Amino acid sequence: MKKQKTNKSTTYMKPYEKLLESNKNWATTKVKEDPEFFSRLANVQTPEYLWIGCSDSRVPPNEITGTSPGEIFIHRNIANMVVHTDLNMLSVLHYAVNVLKVKHVIVCGHYGCGGVKAAMSQNSFGIINKWLRNIKDVYRIHREEFYSIAEESKRVDRLIELNVMEQVMNLAKTSIIQEAWKDRQGPHLHGWVYGLADGIIKPIMEMEPGSRIDPIYEFDNL
Ligand code: CO
Repeated sequence: MKKQKTNKSTTYMKPYEKLLESNKNWATTKVKEDPEFFSRLANVQTPEYLWIGCSDSRVPPNEITGTSPGEIFIHRNIANMVVHTDLNMLSVLHYAVNVLKVKHVIVCGHYGCGGVKAAMSQNSFGIINKWLRNIKDVYRIHREEFYSIAEESKRVDRLIELNVMEQVMNLAKTSIIQEAWKDRQGPHLHGWVYGLADGIIKPIMEMEPGSRIDPIYEFDNL
């Protein structure tokens, strides 16, 4: 099939075709700005950051941090969870920490997170209940604090922050992180919350390599 000219194809373009068209324009612009851009990235990636974020379409990691391809290794799921039985997350974490040797692991949640709101409700959402259950556990642990917050939206915001902190703690509880802390004094762990309303990221927690955690979760034979 003969290729159509850009202006003609734009007229009859299906919505998803716009993505492919934009991609071509983006690639062309990148090469114009920096002719080596793709050849440099094609054979090697050396990101310094692992990002564990929410799948929410309004929180695109590279865009909100002003970073380029090659700079952040990314894992996303509903409500930016670090679940110890999640083979997907564990594989990403293992690869990022032991092969890419990232210097920082960032758990980034966001205010207005639908996953956290759903976990606070008593509605059943089908199979996702099993995922949300992990957030309900955070809710249960901090139950007393929530009951003292009168305003519903403030309660949700607080659970979003506490959930991020809990997921950073979950990272520190893995043998992957504890072993790396022992062997190479890295990576640093960070808990951030992004504001959908203003686009600003609020850092709420940081754990230095070697930070002490509850001894129940510390491995002493790594
Ligand atoms: Co979310």
